[in-house]
Amino acid sequence: MSNTLTEVTSAVTTALSKLPSPESIDNAARMQLLGALDKLRAALEPPPVTLLNHCFSFWALSVIRVAQGMGIFDAFAVAEGTKQLTLDELNSRTKGDKELLFRVMRYLCAQKIFTRPSQESYQPGPLASQLSSGLPTANLIKHFYLHMRTAAHLYEYFEAKDYRNPADACDAPFQFAQCTRQHHFDWLTEHPDDQEAFNSTMSMTRTADGIEWFNFYPVEEKLQVASPDRTLLIDIGGGIGHDISAFKQRFPQLPGQLVLQDLPQVINDIPSPLAGIAAQSHSMFDAQPVRNAKAYYLRTVLHDWPDKQALEVLTRIREAMAEDSVLLINEHTPAAGGELSPIAAALDLHMMQTFSALERTEEQWVALLEKGGFRVVKVWKPQQEGLHLTTTAALYEAVPQ
Ligand SMILES: C[S@@+](CC[C@H](N)C(=O)[O-])C[C@H]1O[C@@H](n2cnc3c(N)ncnc32)[C@H](O)[C@@H]1O
Repeated sequence: MSNTLTEVTSAVTTALSKLPSPESIDNAARMQLLGALDKLRAALEPPPVTLLNHCFSFWALSVIRVAQGMGIFDAFAVAEGTKQLTLDELNSRTKGDKELLFRVMRYLCAQKIFTRPSQESYQPGPLASQLSSGLPTANLIKHFYLHMRTAAHLYEYFEAKDYRNPADACDAPFQFAQCTRQHHFDWLTEHPDDQEAFNSTMSMTRTADGIEWFNFYPVEEKLQVASPDRTLLIDIGGGIGHDISAFKQRFPQLPGQLVLQDLPQVINDIPSPLAGIAAQSHSMFDAQPVRNAKAYYLRTVLHDWPDKQALEVLTRIREAMAEDSVLLINEHTPAAGGELSPIAAALDLHMMQTFSALERTEEQWVALLEKGGFRVVKVWKPQQEGLHLTTTAALYEAVPQ
């Protein structure tokens, strides 16, 4: 090895030994360091290795899903006290035969999801404990396993469609892969396990970034109602109420009513009544029954829809608004230029393949809102850095034109 390479290797090894606990590093510094490491890897990795990494990348999701089906993560969760299990112990607590179990465990160990403290035993790593049944992180795997099945048909879809950008919400790669004409949300109603995984996944998307909209929007200054009977905020397409519940927790004393709306199959999935929040089953394409609310709020709802349907939703909201109502759109906003993380870039393709929709840039959001009869008052953005697992969230405050 050349002297320079020896120095680089030693610098990286020293840096690793001196690294403070990851939780104590602020997000901006963490992302900077990870960015530097990504560049180092890209510069070092021989193209055949990069190629093989791409070719084998789908295996992790597939095998984790199989391991969930066999009950491997649940077996360790139940055996919490012992922490380690032998192959025979694990076999007695899981579905399927021992030979398959051994091969699945070998892959999961290669991925560092489990370790082998001895030849006889397996020990779960930090990720394994997040994959047992019922946890949102486990449901994330189920959710993306479904989408991996769509992505596997992307090439055939575009061959059949002459590589045209999908624009019909009921003729996306999703419908092609599932041999259906149903919109994804209609299809979910008939697939309760996938619906549950979807609802659960939505409850965790933003927490990963750690930045809530009400921490960078001046709520107390902007959202005032004279009468406590007036609706202060309605969260349209708010899922099982995770976002509006966080808002209620942050501002418990703010006068006014809080309303959550979503499709019946989502509202019916709310495990217990939400404190201080009225939950309504309602389709946002129908006339909005909550009139004159102070704020109509939608988080990552319109990114599921091409412009045609997004404009219909905006019209239904505009019809219900009072003179002093505001529209608050909380959405991923990828930068128009510059580099996106692979996850942020893929999220746009995810909207495309599932809904024929897209992640809009700031310019596209403003254009959509103006076309929908709104004037954008301000685009609010968080001051501190998120983890950029997806893309930076922005809050579009708009009023009828
Ligand atoms: C991407 S999720 C976002 C959920 C939530 N706002 C969040 O940020 O976590 C989109 C939501 O829109 C809901 N949705 C889809 N079609 C709808 C409709 N016609 N009326 C009301 N909600 C709808 C879905 O059920 C889902 O909960």
